[in-house]
Amino acid sequence: MKRLCFPILSWMCLCAFSSLVNCEDQRIPEDKLLVLTVATKETDGFRRFLRSAKHFNYTVKVLGQGEKWSGGDYMSAPGGGQKVRLLKAAVAEMKSEDQVILFIDSYDVVFASGPKELLRKFQQAKHKVVFSSESLIWPDRHLEDKYPHVREGNRFLGSGGFMGYIPNIREMVANWTGADSDSDQLFFTKVYIDPPRRKALNITLDTKCRLFQNLHGALDEVVLKFEDGRVRARNVQYDTLPVILHGNGPTKLQMNYLGNYVPNSWTFETGCTVCLENLRSLSSLKESEYPLVVIGIFIQQPTPFVSVFFERLLKLQYPKNRLKLFISNQEPHHEQQVSSFLQNHGSLYLDVKSIRPEEEMDGADARDMAFDMCRKDKECDYFFNLDIEVVLKNENTLKILIKQNLPIVAPMITRVGRLWSNFWGALSVDGYYARSEDYVDIVQGRRVGLWNVPYISSVYLVKASLLQAELKDYQLFTSESLDPDMAFCHNVRSKGVFMYVNNLHTFGRILSTEKYKTEHLHNDLWQIFENPLDWQERYIHENYTRMIKDKLIENPCPDVYWFPLFNDVACDHLVEEMEHFGKWSGGGNMDTRIQGGYENVPTIDIHMNQVNYEKEWQKFLLEFVAPITEKMFPGYYTKAQFDLAFVVRYKPDEQPYLRPHHDASTFTINIALNQVGIDYQGGGCRFLRYDCSIQAPRKGWALMHPGRLTHYHEGLPTTAGVRYIAVSFVDP
Ligand SMILES: *[C@@H]1O[C@H](CO)[C@@H](O)[C@H](O)[C@H]1NC(C)=O
Ligand SMILES: *[C@@H]1O[C@H](CO)[C@@H](O)[C@H](O)[C@H]1NC(C)=O
Ligand SMILES: *[C@@H]1O[C@H](CO)[C@@H](O)[C@H](O)[C@H]1NC(C)=O
Ligand SMILES: *[C@@H]1O[C@H](CO)[C@@H](O)[C@H](O)[C@H]1NC(C)=O
Repeated sequence: MKRLCFPILSWMCLCAFSSLVNCEDQRIPEDKLLVLTVATKETDGFRRFLRSAKHFNYTVKVLGQGEKWSGGDYMSAPGGGQKVRLLKAAVAEMKSEDQVILFIDSYDVVFASGPKELLRKFQQAKHKVVFSSESLIWPDRHLEDKYPHVREGNRFLGSGGFMGYIPNIREMVANWTGADSDSDQLFFTKVYIDPPRRKALNITLDTKCRLFQNLHGALDEVVLKFEDGRVRARNVQYDTLPVILHGNGPTKLQMNYLGNYVPNSWTFETGCTVCLENLRSLSSLKESEYPLVVIGIFIQQPTPFVSVFFERLLKLQYPKNRLKLFISNQEPHHEQQVSSFLQNHGSLYLDVKSIRPEEEMDGADARDMAFDMCRKDKECDYFFNLDIEVVLKNENTLKILIKQNLPIVAPMITRVGRLWSNFWGALSVDGYYARSEDYVDIVQGRRVGLWNVPYISSVYLVKASLLQAELKDYQLFTSESLDPDMAFCHNVRSKGVFMYVNNLHTFGRILSTEKYKTEHLHNDLWQIFENPLDWQERYIHENYTRMIKDKLIENPCPDVYWFPLFNDVACDHLVEEMEHFGKWSGGGNMDTRIQGGYENVPTIDIHMNQVNYEKEWQKFLLEFVAPITEKMFPGYYTKAQFDLAFVVRYKPDEQPYLRPHHDASTFTINIALNQVGIDYQGGGCRFLRYDCSIQAPRKGWALMHPGRLTHYHEGLPTTAGVRYIAVSFVDP
């Protein structure tokens, strides 16, 4: 059986199974199509073009490889005469007259479909040469009147893509004598607007973008169309599915966006199909053969959890003798943390360079200098940028990024519960943040893959080979008007280098630094609102979250519950903070800190509000204690209100014990802040009504018991050392 063809409209064919006219015979066979493109160097865009051509089995011949590009700056200015010269030379030698040439740009082009569809649409155009069309006239708008009118569609010629039979193309370029920097578009325009020549060469425009979609002037017309496991770009103005997408003029970023999907790089059904391509394997390497990475660490503002940052850096899965560190610290506040890290662990690394705050080097200079450390190092394979506010939870991040083998790749990190991330999906007209259509889906992980984006920051890996070539300019981060990250991304984009963000894995998050104050000793304690997850990881007992499931809550005396709450760091920080503050009460009955000024059962203590910690403490009680209260005393709901919450100090020669008393609370939380047998002897708590004592308090564990009426209790004597507890009278 043969596929048959019925003419329906002038340009449309219906093929069916029958035996009238043979459809195949009229078609141009796919092997008659040759794609010609000019690429003087292999940019990321060129590789993307080739990949899409290969995907559809196009036969591509590349002209001008290794030649110096002299056709003007391909990012902006007119030019392209070099392309015509190379085309002229190429077609002059071609013999087969029935061959069809597709001459197309490649740095900003991808194929959205295969040769068969392209040739069918070419034939349906019923001309020997078909040029892509544009809605904007360029480069000479005075020629507008000379253009033939079109009933519907774009009126103007675009030279970034055209196709035709060899004899016609040869004839069309035969007269070319221009300079390499002359405009190819103007040359072809003049042929086209000259009626006799247009007729003789049999040229038409693809006015409705059936073959070619130039994006300039058409951004609103083009949308992605997902269907049956495939993805195309659709021109919604003309309801066409262009075969070739061209990010001409200032539409490179939109092309990058479309190129994240087309051709079938990512679909709903398949997910990412390119993510496993071209990987670099590390598994066969000995540790000593691992690529050498310079890690640039930048501290540009006071930042919480800096010591945790360095603990994580130590745990990064990578041979330390293949890592060099460049640490730039602009914050005196963090000097101690940096120097103690370097003192204790610096020698594990192959090399360390650090810039101290006194050097007053600005952010851009430090980043330029860090790049240069890798650029000048013949051994350096990668530069890994790591800003101090990055919380890299995934210890394999560096290996994962290296394996991905991309020019520049950032692991996606986000701010917890927010749409804030370390990449932008699009740029506004003035170069700032704009939200791409897929941004939210990417940030929230509904689309996972590798995404070519216009802006990345905070954490990313750069190939050293780029720093020695495309990115060899020293001052990539320096700009009059842009901040260092924006300046860097701007420079990368203008060199035609692609930046990717990877959200195939969970990598970590980014801290909020805006409200970080540095007036206390352990400022991280105050971060429970700004960075709640980091606060929890830093301070809450490691077994807290599984205590209900695993029944870890103990019941040492009637209605007294005992459970793990703080970790050692929290206990130590709280004690040190109070000792640092130092204004311990005298333990007398007169107490100006409380309402009424009279304390019935005084202790040597410091109230949370004396160190401005009551809001944070209440949040802590609400988040971490209230759920346990409601579990153990069902039906009682608490908002964790308190008038009194304080840290008590027991010392043999100061105040060793507390006489029996009731608490002015519905329930009381009593957290042991240090370790019996190590920090002190004795201590504990006795409930008189039940004659029941807890004599071996555990550091970080909380006692929860009713305050009034039933749980008359006393603090047992501390016989040596110093004992600290944190007490809260909840719901007074
Ligand atoms: C490309 O060619 C290969 C082998 O020649 C074939 O397996 C594949 O299906 C072709 N792909 C397309 C899109 O035609
Ligand atoms: C262009 O060529 C087609 C055949 O490919 C022919 O039918 C048509 O008349 C020609 N048009 C002009 C204007 O010569
Ligand atoms: C080439 O130049 C000749 C002589 O100027 C002219 O007649 C002819 O139309 C030109 N051909 C094209 C395709 O421009
Ligand atoms: C948490 O529980 C595990 C298993 O019961 C135990 O080995 C570990 O010591 C506990 N962690 C702490 C800090 O007590």
